[in-house]
Amino acid sequence: MSARVCFVVGARPNFMKSAPVYRELAALDPSLELLLLHTGQHYDDAMSDVFFRELGMPRPDEFLAVGSGSHAEQTAKVLVGVERVLLEHEIDLCVVAGDVNSTIAAALAAVKLGIPIAHIEAGLRSFDRAMPEEHNRVLTDHLSDILLAHSEEAITNLQREGITSGVHLVGNTMIDTLLRHIDAGRALALPPQFQPGAYSVLTLHRPANVDSTELLQGLLDALEPVTSRMPVAFPVHPRTVRRLEEVRVPANLICLEPMSYIRFLGLVANSRMVLTDSGGIQEETTVLGIPCVTLRNSTERPVTCEMGTNILAGTDPDHIRQVLCSVLSKPKHAARVPPKWDGKAGQRIAEVLLTQGSAKARSAAPAIQHSFSMDRVSAG
Ligand code: UD1
Repeated sequence: MSARVCFVVGARPNFMKSAPVYRELAALDPSLELLLLHTGQHYDDAMSDVFFRELGMPRPDEFLAVGSGSHAEQTAKVLVGVERVLLEHEIDLCVVAGDVNSTIAAALAAVKLGIPIAHIEAGLRSFDRAMPEEHNRVLTDHLSDILLAHSEEAITNLQREGITSGVHLVGNTMIDTLLRHIDAGRALALPPQFQPGAYSVLTLHRPANVDSTELLQGLLDALEPVTSRMPVAFPVHPRTVRRLEEVRVPANLICLEPMSYIRFLGLVANSRMVLTDSGGIQEETTVLGIPCVTLRNSTERPVTCEMGTNILAGTDPDHIRQVLCSVLSKPKHAARVPPKWDGKAGQRIAEVLLTQGSAKARSAAPAIQHSFSMDRVSAG
């Protein structure tokens, strides 16, 4: 029997992180049976389907339709649904990505069944336990057998928590996806209000920033040094939409629907600067050489500040204003790109999974030992 690998995806950032690994694994060993499970944590066309189309991902084999809900509801629905799929398909290896609720729930379902887990983007830490994602990161890493790290700092974080085996420095799969699609993004026409280099981009979706009207108003007002000089494109996450009705939106802030991946890449690549509370965008701007001001008090990606274009501006409006004035007063500076953020992370991960994944599956619970056949396996 050929080995069965289940990729679990659920929310927008998962799609860009998993697509290169799925593609490279399929190419490296066509005899593997790859199953794509979409939990449905994100379900709108703009938050989900368009990414599958643009990234060339196959239609999911299984769709759980868990939708929105409290953390407990969403996590519990994914846990139950993923367990059923893993059992029905006799999965040998479960691949999860990032830090969303679908990630931890899928890992928990797999570990209880004795199925080895590979975690793409292991080892990131913001050290801010108020972030829901921080729990998801820590717990997923402690359940995983194969920890796929995108930077040395991620490996150091894992070591501090006593995780030293099964850790691999593979690079950044999100950057694989960026490099594959950036030409298509740049080729798209910008919306008419935006001229290359003469506008900025804003994204905001963290509960800590957008779930309070007062805080959101403070953040929007703090953007004045930028909004007074140039238009700011603001593709609005569904979580943020309702709250915007309760605040004063600065005149030059142009609210847009959530964008497709390729359209957003083009928008960022041509911008003067990006203001964001997203995690992945800190990495994408580093590789694109676009100044990024992160509207958060912590980042799980400090390498983007140390080497890249990212500045952690916090959430205090006065401090944000100072940072924005300083960025606007300087020309773009040349950023360095962290090692192995080179478009080949998916390939490295596929190689690790074919060797390490097979060994883990062989040593896992007897019920799943049929998994990877020996002839495919180099040293485990
Ligand atoms: C989730 C992740 C976050 C990630 C973000 C990317 C967790 C805990 N959070 O946050 O780490 O950065 O995705 O977008 O997993 N909604 C829709 N349509 C959708 C999806 C969501 O309208 O397709 C709305 C719903 O009102 C929902 C809200 O957005 O209640 C929040 O969605 P949810 O998946 O709970 O978390 P995100 O804020 O998207």
